[in-house]
Amino acid sequence: MKGMEDDMNKVEFNEHYPSITESDKLYARALRLIPSCTQTLAKGPGQYVKGVAPKYLVRGKGSHVWDADGNEFIDYTMGVGPLSLGYSYPAVDEAIKKQLEHGITFSLMHPLEVEVAELIRETVPNAEAVRFSKTGADVTTAAVRLARAFTGRSKVLCCGYHGWHDWYIGVTDRNRGIPRQVQDLTHTFNYNDIDSVIDSIDENTACVILEPIVFEAPKENFLHKLKDVCEQHGTILIFDEMWTGFRLAVGGAQEYFGVKADLACFSKAVANGMPISILAGREDIMQLLEKDVFFFTTFGGEALSLAAAKATIQELRDRKVPRYLAAQGAKIKNGYNDIARRLKMEYTRCSGFECRTIVTFDASAGNPLELKSFMQQELIKCGILWSGFHNISFSHTDHDIDYTLTAYSEVLAKLKRAVDADSVKQLLRGEAVEPVFRKTSNFNMKPKKVAE
Ligand SMILES: Cc1ncc(COP(=O)(O)O)c(C=O)c1O
Repeated sequence: MKGMEDDMNKVEFNEHYPSITESDKLYARALRLIPSCTQTLAKGPGQYVKGVAPKYLVRGKGSHVWDADGNEFIDYTMGVGPLSLGYSYPAVDEAIKKQLEHGITFSLMHPLEVEVAELIRETVPNAEAVRFSKTGADVTTAAVRLARAFTGRSKVLCCGYHGWHDWYIGVTDRNRGIPRQVQDLTHTFNYNDIDSVIDSIDENTACVILEPIVFEAPKENFLHKLKDVCEQHGTILIFDEMWTGFRLAVGGAQEYFGVKADLACFSKAVANGMPISILAGREDIMQLLEKDVFFFTTFGGEALSLAAAKATIQELRDRKVPRYLAAQGAKIKNGYNDIARRLKMEYTRCSGFECRTIVTFDASAGNPLELKSFMQQELIKCGILWSGFHNISFSHTDHDIDYTLTAYSEVLAKLKRAVDADSVKQLLRGEAVEPVFRKTSNFNMKPKKVAE
């Protein structure tokens, strides 16, 4: 390794693209052995420009990460959501280490299950009862099953991504392996389009599940109207708060927008990187988990994650972290849009709620995936690991943000030159990034009731 240090990418305007030899060696070993190579699509090789982007990260501290070749980057993906406080955050790591001295998984229940459930009840508006599991898909699926059991109905209306299980993936274009009968039970509706819900909801609709926000704000009281429509039809309203929970406000979107769902699902930001998910909701519905509805898993009460969740929630609350995320997020969002405006690049913008924003490109300037890939490639050279999102953490400092905006000024100017010269594709040093699903909206919409 001696002598290599100087060649490694730093968080600065590097002369060269980083060396990714070690990443590529690991990738070569993974090919075919690990189908898709990744366990999380958003971290996989299809989301990063091959030949330029690192593929494996080995260390993180605060908002910075180091790849398998020793290159350093500011990270704006933050584990695809979980790192709400930042990598190696002392208060959480200490709680994990302390618990590790006593044990990880036990043969009886652990007191932390009670402590963390109480903390969630204090924090999350609808949390009359609480259960834990490991993944987001676990709890969205449990919520859907509970809704079906409670209502005695089978149909689901959804909007957004809710995990890999059959009831949801059936509505996407990656639905191989899911029986037609299951696919036929779930339909989508459009966000901020209450008529698309009214057109679809009927006496066999068990639940409406949605992310309370993704990047678009609710218009004309959409969430409140949705709650009313669900109530009128005896349908259970489920909020998938995987992204909004513990981030938009400590109590999530329910607190932020002042609207309560019947059931709410959380994961990601709640334990700063440890694997835990939470199902919370109305006691009368959750009580079905006593005997009628089966939802149990070996690692559901695993103590390291519960210790991490306890420490993270306390930190998020005591340090008013959502306020900080919003402030830092606003700087980067407004800064990006100012630069784009100054450069007269009306085809790109940064949007969303400040704690999590997205950069988009419209097709007027070329293939949006190619534009995104070009940005990613050039930002990597500046020591910024970027997938088109700003998932802000408590560790993103003013210095990180200022540096990133300077990098945006340079890289956006480069992109503009490339767009003007129609050379974006030519300037890509690898394959463009891929979309996750080919189609995500207006998909598998339920035919209007009159047409049935
Ligand atoms: C909104 C939303 N719901 C559910 C999930 C599924 O969570 P998991 O990947 O932990 O199963 C995700 C994952 O990204 C998500 O973003």
